[in-house]
Amino acid sequence: MKRLTILLGIILVSIAVMVFIYQPIAAHKFSGEVLQQPMKVPSVMLRSDAGPVRLEDHRGKLILLYFGYTSCPDICPTSLANIKMALGGLTPEEAAQVQVIFVSVDPARDTPEALGKYVKLFQDNFIGATGTREEIDLMTSAFGAKYKLNEPDANGNYSVDHTSFTILIDRNGYYIFNFPHGTPSTEMSKDLRYLIQNEMPISAQILAGPTYTPVVCALTLVPAHVQGGEWLYQHHCAQCHGADMAGNPAWQTELQDGSHLPPPLDQTGSAWQYSEQDLVNIIKSGRNLDKPIHMPAFSPKLANWEINFIVTYMQSKWEINQLNYQHGFITLTPQATSTPLSTPTPATPPP
Ligand code: HEC
Repeated sequence: MKRLTILLGIILVSIAVMVFIYQPIAAHKFSGEVLQQPMKVPSVMLRSDAGPVRLEDHRGKLILLYFGYTSCPDICPTSLANIKMALGGLTPEEAAQVQVIFVSVDPARDTPEALGKYVKLFQDNFIGATGTREEIDLMTSAFGAKYKLNEPDANGNYSVDHTSFTILIDRNGYYIFNFPHGTPSTEMSKDLRYLIQNEMPISAQILAGPTYTPVVCALTLVPAHVQGGEWLYQHHCAQCHGADMAGNPAWQTELQDGSHLPPPLDQTGSAWQYSEQDLVNIIKSGRNLDKPIHMPAFSPKLANWEINFIVTYMQSKWEINQLNYQHGFITLTPQATSTPLSTPTPATPPP
């Protein structure tokens, strides 16, 4: 009996300790959008006025990463000013643990030197960097950021639409959340201070945040369909989209004749942004058939069930949030930017 009491005592004390330890983590509500799965940041070498810049050079610090361009009339300056204010809300010691990196998606106009001058208008230690179009595309697609260079006007001036969230990378080089445009600087300061003071384990980050609104992770893909789909994919699609679905690295560039190279179909592409029905339709009817490089129609060649299997196999390569997005359980983050971005046009109008 006595033993049982002691055992019970130990259990109660352990629970109390666990609750106590967990408390500060659960108590903090992030104002940023916390990723369900932290993402290891890509290794891309960019250039600044002070030489090469890589995200991993700043391991040990928190990084605030922003994609923009220096001729940006409103959103970029507001965001940078807001970040500066957020850092101003920290002690100098705390602020020294945060590195701000502004990456220009407009390298034709933004030289590393011009970028250096630009960011220093806001704060001396901000870094402005850019790279080749390919390097920039690698970066933006890895972070789920988008941009679009608009048509130049008569004077050759053009604007650039771009996602306007600020990406937060933790000390270990993981993208863990982003601040939507318009997050008050005081809220940003709170989140930054919290991260500086608390070395949160990755798993706890996920517990802590307000996350994508309702995230339903209950989608299970039938393993046999995934397997069947893989076989079909390897025989019908891999020669163009790659054995690993990575597509052609230059898939985002439109060729002179208007063709597009095969895009990735895994989580790095935009296939997950289509409804299931649209995907089936693209595979059945093909796309841009009049172009030299195009997506061929598989309509008589593959039966409906085979196409469904292939789509299931594609879905098995996506992140849970992408899957949830496709099924309408979550809305795409970041939220509304003031300049709408072009979204892929479905092959056929939705039924
Ligand atoms: C001969 C090469 C080729 C083959 C084979 C091929 N595709 Fe494609 N696919 C393309 C090209 C090129 C595009 C881009 C078309 C465009 O938008 O101009 C494309 C586009 C797509 C898209 C649209 C993706 C997006 O993000 O816009 C999907 C989905 C797709 N293919 C799925 C498949 C599947 C599934 C198969 C196998 C059944 C397949 N493709 C076989 C060349 C191919």
